[in-house]
Amino acid sequence: MDSDLSLEFLRVVEQAAIACAHTMGQGDGHKSDRAAVEAMRSVMDTVPIDGTIVIGEGERDEAPMLYIGEKVGMAHALGRTAAGGFPQVDIAVDPLEGTNLCATGAPNAIAVLAVSNKGGLLHAPDLYMEKLVVGPSSRDAVSLDAPVHENLEAIADRLGRHVEDLVVIVLDRPRHEKLVADIRATGARIRLIGDGDLSAGIAAAVVGSGVHAVMGTGGAPEGVLTAAAMRCLNGEIFARLVVSRPEHEERCRAMGITDFKKVYRSKDLAPGRSIIFAATGVTDGTLMRGVRFFGDGTRTGSVIMQNDPHRIRFIDSIHVPPDTDVKIRF
Ligand code: FBP
Repeated sequence: MDSDLSLEFLRVVEQAAIACAHTMGQGDGHKSDRAAVEAMRSVMDTVPIDGTIVIGEGERDEAPMLYIGEKVGMAHALGRTAAGGFPQVDIAVDPLEGTNLCATGAPNAIAVLAVSNKGGLLHAPDLYMEKLVVGPSSRDAVSLDAPVHENLEAIADRLGRHVEDLVVIVLDRPRHEKLVADIRATGARIRLIGDGDLSAGIAAAVVGSGVHAVMGTGGAPEGVLTAAAMRCLNGEIFARLVVSRPEHEERCRAMGITDFKKVYRSKDLAPGRSIIFAATGVTDGTLMRGVRFFGDGTRTGSVIMQNDPHRIRFIDSIHVPPDTDVKIRF
């Protein structure tokens, strides 16, 4: 995959973030989501690719745009195929990760996508997934099946600190009552979040973010996107689908998954040889500032990561419409 494509995908997440940021705090999650999806969809068709959405807004009958299997990119817009010179790629999107965060103006809503060479992202059903996300120093020291205290002791040991010094992010859900009690029993600190275990996972893999692990059950699509980020950040996600009903088994089989108990690591969820991960902050967050509007100008904070060439870029963009007299502040 051509590495210069990364900047093309930067435009896609920036425009999705800008579109939904206008709706911040309006209390209408559907409106926020729709704005992000429409903007992402339309900019995607200006990217020189022959793309297929593999993780998206749902099945075709559930979602009018960015549905699973939808063809996107310039090849689609021009009615040409890879034979026409456009690289074939698979794309996982979450145009607005943390819909409620945007609707309420809470931190860490992001517009996000991951791209890989064909077949490089697991086609995961929209089920729940048990997750454990850690940074590079702890990735060989923990296990999804180990007791909470053992994992936290291992992380603390690898980071050269006490368990009491750790910060673990957990989605604030009734299903996590026991998990939260187990973490509290170790003395580790907890940050309970309303939504957004994907941006939490990214933070856990970045030294200095003040986050040392993410634990608990969240969405499987977010798990695949987290894995793509981990491939670039050298962190790790351990994950297992929550398959508790026959209907879940059917949905897994429909996506080619037959081992329902498998513990996935980043390379299983995002095995691509070549990965691009792009995210733009919608609301202010741990690693990126949210969208700021000032007069005619707009400022965005993004991260673009690639594993080949291996490069992480934090990008601060100022978007200036043509023929306007916007003043640029450092
Ligand atoms: P949305 O962006 O679709 O609102 O998802 C937000 C999120 O909090 C994810 O970060 C998380 O993986 C999932 O929802 C958890 O699902 P649930 O809200 O059902 O517990």
